[in-house]
Amino acid sequence: LRDKYLSAIADAADESALETLRVQAVGKKGEINLKMRELGKMTAEERQVAGPKLNALKDEINSALAARKAALADVALDARLRDEWLDVTLPGRAAGRPMGSVHPISQVTEEISAIFADLGFAVAEGPQIESDWYNFDALNIPPHHPARQEFDTFYMHRDAGDNRPPHVLRTHTSPVQIRAMEKTGAPIRVIAPGRVYRSDYDQTHTPMFHQIEGLAIDRDISMAHLKWVLEEFFAAFFEIDGIKTRFRASHFPFTEPSAEVDIQCSWVDGQLRIGEGDGWMEVLGSGMVHPHVLKSAGVDPDQWQGFAFGLGIDRLAMLKYGIPDLRAFFDSDLRWLRHYGFSA
Ligand code: PHE
Repeated sequence: LRDKYLSAIADAADESALETLRVQAVGKKGEINLKMRELGKMTAEERQVAGPKLNALKDEINSALAARKAALADVALDARLRDEWLDVTLPGRAAGRPMGSVHPISQVTEEISAIFADLGFAVAEGPQIESDWYNFDALNIPPHHPARQEFDTFYMHRDAGDNRPPHVLRTHTSPVQIRAMEKTGAPIRVIAPGRVYRSDYDQTHTPMFHQIEGLAIDRDISMAHLKWVLEEFFAAFFEIDGIKTRFRASHFPFTEPSAEVDIQCSWVDGQLRIGEGDGWMEVLGSGMVHPHVLKSAGVDPDQWQGFAFGLGIDRLAMLKYGIPDLRAFFDSDLRWLRHYGFSA
């Protein structure tokens, strides 16, 4: 009996064969149990010899079953590992499939962020649907200030009886100045890239476009620091050492004094050349952060001061990569994206 089962178990080809053997040998109505029933008919002496033997045989068969089961599982696992083997070093099957590209706006946003990261600026963020307090009031633009009209603001619709504060699609990234200062206080050095919205549309205006806000607040930051930071930035961005900038006195409610900044450029044979000649191209607005703005954000203007600027990402992308029409950025024309896009 013993040899019959042990060799059958060792030869069992799979789990179901093993289960059949288990039932035959040690199952309720299996051969061992049948033999155990016969113990009753034996004499006491015979029983004392046969009983332990049968029990030992039962144990032995049970462990042989378990061992064979484990061995079969190992074999199955080996087979799976062999069949499902994957060479992760093989090149992907890219050939023939269309590859996407990085949009010039994303590319330029990355380039600008990297340059300002080198200059010690962290990245801050704010919502695109902004309360009019952050977009205007906190930036020293009270409700009836004429500057509100200049922005061509998109207002969010509110039903009568809706008591939530009025919201707008942010018209600039400047509200992120307030949010960033509320969050970390002074000193602070951040940029805030993102989408902004104004109701405007022609070759150089789209209702959605992109800005990067800059903000540096410390004990004694001055216009000189602003000028140095921007000149470093333009030199790095356009890869032109010593590119000239021009600061023109201007007005923004949230800076005092304010300056619009132009970079040196010229037109040669209908081609725009950055950093050459005696023409100028406006690229950003800037100034010393107005004390009212610091106060709105909970920063004490008697102890802290600094500069802010806002530049148009789309405009800089057009200038750097020679893209003539702003609207093409957002047409999703695949031929345009293939031509002006960057490989990932
Ligand atoms: N928010 C201004 C705009 O969108 C730009 C700006 C930012 C000017 C910061 C001064 C300081 O026109």
